[in-house]
Amino acid sequence: MKSSTSSKLQIYFILSLYFFNGVISSDTLTASQSLGSNQTLISPQKVFEFGFFNTTTSKWYLGIWYKDVPDKIFVWVANRDTPLENSNGTLKIQDGGKLVLFNQTDNPIWSSNQTISSVTDPVLHLLDDGNLVLKEAQEKNNSNYIWQSFDHPTDTLLPGMKLGWNLDTGVEIRITSWKSQDDPSTGDSHFSLDYHGVPDIYLWNKQQRVFRSGSWNGQSFGGVPILSTIAALNDKIVVDEHEAYYYPAGLLQSNLSRLVVNSTSSMERYAWIESTKDWNKVWSAPALQCDNYGTCGPFGICDSNAFPVCKCVTGFDIKNQRQWDLRNFSDGCVRKTELECDKDKFLHLKNVQLPETRSVFVNKSMTLLECENKCLKDCSCTAYANEEITNGGTGCVMWNYSLVDMRQFTEAGQDIFIRLAASDVGNFFFSDEADTGSSGGSKKNAGMIAGITITIVILILGVILFILRKKRRWQRIQKVNNSQRGNSDRGQKTRLSDSKFSNSREYSDERNMDDLDLPLFEFHVISDATNSFSLANKLGEGGFGAVYRGRLVDGQDIAVKRLSTSSGQGNVEFKNEVRSIAKLQHRNLVRLFGCCIEKEEKMLIYEYCENNSLDSILFDKAKSCKLDWPMRFSIICGIAKGLLYLHHDSRFRIIHRDLKASNVLLDKEMNPKISDFGIARIFDNDQTHSSTMRIVGTYGYMSPEYAMGGYFSAKSDVFSFGVLVLEIISGMKNRGFHQSDDLNLLGHAWRLWNEGKAMELIDSSYADSYSEAEVIRCINVGLICVQEKIEDRPIMPSVVMMLNSETSSLPQPKHPGFVLGRNLGESDSSSAVTINEVTVTIINGR
Ligand SMILES: *[C@@H]1O[C@H](CO)[C@@H](O)[C@H](O)[C@H]1NC(C)=O
Ligand SMILES: *[C@@H]1O[C@H](CO)[C@@H](O)[C@H](O)[C@H]1NC(C)=O
Ligand SMILES: *[C@@H]1O[C@H](CO)[C@@H](O)[C@H](O)[C@H]1NC(C)=O
Ligand SMILES: *[C@@H]1O[C@H](CO)[C@@H](O)[C@H](O)[C@H]1NC(C)=O
Ligand SMILES: *[C@@H]1O[C@H](CO)[C@@H](O)[C@H](O)[C@H]1NC(C)=O
Ligand SMILES: *[C@@H]1O[C@H](CO)[C@@H](O)[C@H](O)[C@H]1NC(C)=O
Ligand SMILES: *[C@@H]1O[C@H](CO)[C@@H](O)[C@H](O)[C@H]1NC(C)=O
Ligand SMILES: *[C@@H]1O[C@H](CO)[C@@H](O)[C@H](O)[C@H]1NC(C)=O
Ligand SMILES: *[C@@H]1O[C@H](CO)[C@@H](O)[C@H](O)[C@H]1NC(C)=O
Ligand SMILES: *[C@@H]1O[C@H](CO)[C@@H](O)[C@H](O)[C@H]1NC(C)=O
Ligand SMILES: *[C@@H]1O[C@H](CO)[C@@H](O)[C@H](O)[C@H]1NC(C)=O
Repeated sequence: MKSSTSSKLQIYFILSLYFFNGVISSDTLTASQSLGSNQTLISPQKVFEFGFFNTTTSKWYLGIWYKDVPDKIFVWVANRDTPLENSNGTLKIQDGGKLVLFNQTDNPIWSSNQTISSVTDPVLHLLDDGNLVLKEAQEKNNSNYIWQSFDHPTDTLLPGMKLGWNLDTGVEIRITSWKSQDDPSTGDSHFSLDYHGVPDIYLWNKQQRVFRSGSWNGQSFGGVPILSTIAALNDKIVVDEHEAYYYPAGLLQSNLSRLVVNSTSSMERYAWIESTKDWNKVWSAPALQCDNYGTCGPFGICDSNAFPVCKCVTGFDIKNQRQWDLRNFSDGCVRKTELECDKDKFLHLKNVQLPETRSVFVNKSMTLLECENKCLKDCSCTAYANEEITNGGTGCVMWNYSLVDMRQFTEAGQDIFIRLAASDVGNFFFSDEADTGSSGGSKKNAGMIAGITITIVILILGVILFILRKKRRWQRIQKVNNSQRGNSDRGQKTRLSDSKFSNSREYSDERNMDDLDLPLFEFHVISDATNSFSLANKLGEGGFGAVYRGRLVDGQDIAVKRLSTSSGQGNVEFKNEVRSIAKLQHRNLVRLFGCCIEKEEKMLIYEYCENNSLDSILFDKAKSCKLDWPMRFSIICGIAKGLLYLHHDSRFRIIHRDLKASNVLLDKEMNPKISDFGIARIFDNDQTHSSTMRIVGTYGYMSPEYAMGGYFSAKSDVFSFGVLVLEIISGMKNRGFHQSDDLNLLGHAWRLWNEGKAMELIDSSYADSYSEAEVIRCINVGLICVQEKIEDRPIMPSVVMMLNSETSSLPQPKHPGFVLGRNLGESDSSSAVTINEVTVTIINGR
């Protein structure tokens, strides 16, 4: 009986193969058809394609990819752990409604494996959202599926999917990485929803938590403020006794967006940008040190803008000072004073990512006051907070153990109240954002008086510390110089005749144990390459010295920056800085190949960019017509990404300080590459993070606070970026702007924006290639970046996000900052007016 049906089936299949081969180009596979390796299903709007594919490991898989996107991106793989040995595979819908994949010898190697009730006429559809669904042909209900691939995702979370648990069956939907870039089998990393306590998403590598999204605050996950700006209000979490799911409707709102976990334990959100025909990585984690789960240990708090990133919560001391000094913060902090239960007070911290909430007490209907009272009564309660931020804060969360994985934000985050012994709360004067909770108010006056006394003591201590530090630093330099002297003898002996680098590994930094070789070029190699620095090879004169074009013997084109000798920095420090900067690699940064130090000469060797600098094209009427709008937009996005990397993703958090059109180079494909980054670092090693005696920068691009007060931060670069965006759109320079009565380009753009005539800003040379929506968005972003107040300007992750979010509405810009150097003294500003684009270096005589 059984064999007769199967042979009947076989005939059926042979017939169906005969009739339907090649015809399956639609979105549907019926029970009488089969799918072979030279056929695919294509979704109705031709967004996704489903079929067989092979990887470089010569294994074959069945999967789904974007149809019209170059470089196949696989969003789903059926048989990830049971590949086909060759392309001879067949997919069929077996009677009973199971999808089964057979190999060449007709062995089933993968099946949809669902438990099914009776199915009469199953069909397989590939939908436009990338969901492969099996359903009854007659079924009209569009969510009544027998089986769907969205319930069995691989490494990609797509719009329309959900993440979490079916609590009735215990089945989890999680996202698991590939083993490696070309091996789809189940890898070591995954991310999934943890619904216990307050829900959050964890990224895991094997058994280790790598990253936590922050707790759900009613609108989004609190630890990723960047994403919450686009996800706001559309994301949803449903937790009840049957299910616990996260629906990322807002996070993944455009159809061509995806959240993937890659084999190196990195979560990445991509969105397809139609105008640049490229994937834009909008966000990834862990990117910053603070993204790493529990970086600062118990009762430590991580602040990406601080150095070091970790500090102890007020009222706590570093537990293991030695490890802490080595930048190992994992032991965290301990209480200064033991708790006394009912006499304790609460310390109010603002803009904090709530600590891990896996086993907290939650009551959604309690008020904050009830929460405080309950916490105060329960001696094991260590902190409390509102559960959600909606309606000004609702619900109650209470911790009864140590607080792990807190972060300090400047804008986002929530309020938390941490229990301290009453005597420790009085010390609020030490902490800038700390504030006593509602019960600590009476202490304030006493605290003030204590505070003033303490300030005086601190000042004295500060002076002593400053002297000590100078001394130590001096000793360190001496030590380094000695070791350098010993090694340089060896360096001279290893003279390489034909190789372009001589690898020196003479000095390893204390903090920087990994021993990356710094390519050191020899002087004669560079001299030969640039034809003895001939005038014909000179590309220009930058702020820090002349730039020459050169070609090494092996044909590699290079650009050589011959630094003016006045840098006043020791060779070792110089090399050290170059080494650290050489490690920064990004497609929107100019590659630094190495350096050359000989006698008085210091040179930096860069990759050569064929299309020279942006200003040479942008401000040249004859050439600027080459720059159509898609190109300009892609340049804007590229610069934004490069800057994002410098500010946030690189290990050193570099602030460029001199971003301008002439510091953006264009390669063969017109990809923008930021140059001269880190130069300020090389030249000005001793800077503090907040202000500097030396002002390096260019009028017209400098933020007001930097030009006037020497105060710089990443937001100063954001300002320069905004200027650059407006210049790229208008084809006009901010400085030396001569049109109408406006002060400069920023003033001009601001006026047009307010008069609703922003489109008049565009350069006529690309007047027929632009998308109005894109241009307006860019102008909007540009104006937001040049706002006068530092705190109004966005950080680069938000800028990148805004540039790419086609749907969300952007904030209205406020008044831009004008930089005319009024406060800089007349002589300086007049010299700057005569030359359009001088790089100025002012030594503030303060
Ligand atoms: C698919 O492959 C089979 C055998 O390999 C071949 O006979 C058939 O013509 C192919 N169909 C198409 C549409 O290429
Ligand atoms: C897939 O296999 C074909 C030949 O069967 C080969 O030409 C191609 O390079 C393979 N693709 C990959 C990605 O390895
Ligand atoms: C697939 O099967 C056909 C016939 O069974 C055979 O001729 C062909 O060599 C097979 N292809 C591979 C790649 O093994
Ligand atoms: C098909 O699968 C069976 C069982 O997994 C295996 O023994 C056989 O070698 C496979 N055949 C081919 C051609 O891969
Ligand atoms: C199919 O499901 C059964 C139980 O439902 C399970 O035992 C079996 O391992 C599953 N097979 C595959 C290939 O997942
Ligand atoms: C996304 O795809 C769905 C289904 O194909 C479609 O209804 C919707 O309009 C698309 N949304 C966008 C923003 O393209
Ligand atoms: C379609 O099916 C889903 C899931 O079975 C069910 O929740 C929903 O009510 C159905 N909708 C209609 C219109 O029948
Ligand atoms: C994984 O992500 C990291 C960080 O974005 C990237 O450098 C790496 O190339 C990615 N790896 C793979 C296999 O895609
Ligand atoms: C950090 O310190 C802890 C405890 O002191 C230790 O177990 C751990 O190995 C250290 N980690 C590193 C990377 O040194
Ligand atoms: C903390 O509270 C939770 C739930 O209220 C409880 O399950 C857990 O045992 C408590 N832990 C400690 C250390 O008191
Ligand atoms: C939550 O708090 C409210 C108000 O205090 C109380 O009525 C309710 O019983 C609490 N619910 C739980 C589950 O503890």
